[in-house]
Amino acid sequence: MNFDADEAPELRTAHVIVVANEKGGSGKSTMSIHLAVALLKAGYRVATIDLDIRQRTLTRFFENRASWAKTAPWRVELPKHFAPDRGESASRLDNETAEFAIFAEAIGEVEHSFEFIVIDTPASDSYLMRLAHSLADTLISPMNDSFIDMDVLTRVHHDRGQRGMVAQYAEIVIEARRKRRLVDNGLIDWVLVRNRVATLQTNNAKQVDHALRRLAVELQFRVAEGLHDRVIFRELFPLGLTALDALEESHHTLTASQKSARREIDDLVNDLRLPERAAGVGHLESRHIWFNAISDFYRKLGELKGERPR
Ligand SMILES: Nc1ncnc2c1ncn2[C@@H]1O[C@H](COP(=O)(O)OP(=O)(O)O)[C@@H](O)[C@H]1O
Ligand SMILES: [Mg+2]
Repeated sequence: MNFDADEAPELRTAHVIVVANEKGGSGKSTMSIHLAVALLKAGYRVATIDLDIRQRTLTRFFENRASWAKTAPWRVELPKHFAPDRGESASRLDNETAEFAIFAEAIGEVEHSFEFIVIDTPASDSYLMRLAHSLADTLISPMNDSFIDMDVLTRVHHDRGQRGMVAQYAEIVIEARRKRRLVDNGLIDWVLVRNRVATLQTNNAKQVDHALRRLAVELQFRVAEGLHDRVIFRELFPLGLTALDALEESHHTLTASQKSARREIDDLVNDLRLPERAAGVGHLESRHIWFNAISDFYRKLGELKGERPR
């Protein structure tokens, strides 16, 4: 494989997947859970970090899963999970320093020995949340099919035909990308994933789809198909299980909906175009192959937007 040493960033072994957007309840934790379990089941070494210090959904899920694992009749895969605490000092600076130290220690512990790190984040803007963004190789933003969620991404200015007044969240991503380029010449593959898609294509969903594709060029992201609204995506949470687990071996035969859920998660993982395992190719090398393919994609998307190649 030929890599241009001057151009290629210094890639760590672990591919960092950050699941984030500024909207509560859009499915960040649900996606983190399913993605982490899917990667574990594919045989990867996976670490997970729960930065949603208040809700701790990811942490509770893996606690439930760990206790299920003790008695389960089949193998239950577990990631190496980190749940940093929030700094409790009165000084913001002290808190941020402490949070940075804990986070950096977690990353340092796994970045060279694990293949994927999945980071779930809180809905609110915080220091840790921004820090996580600037480490992301793949940034996943789940989005409900509504224009309300779109509003978090961008507000379109109609004044003097000036479009694209970028709203809060997209600004966070732009800033993280800028920092990332400066620090290690890396890039962030930003993937918007639709979540809780209604089974019937409504007019609204079509409109959202259309608007998203237009925005994708402007804000430089990709769109993945995503997950439908399904009971199976939430009902197994208390057990620490997912539709991907060997449910058929326990209490029931798989329903059509469960089979579709598995297919959706498989499709989502494919759509993410993560570094893939291939015969004779080490993980770091597949990270470089990933980097080259994704840089190419964003170079072309940038050209569509009218940016000069960097
Ligand atoms: N695709 C889906 N189908 C059904 N329920 C979902 C789906 N995605 C999320 N949920 C449910 O919606 C609620 C919010 O999801 P969650 O993942 O906790 O969002 P966030 O982490 O962004 O706040 C949870 O009750 C979750 O079980
Ligand atoms: Mg959450």
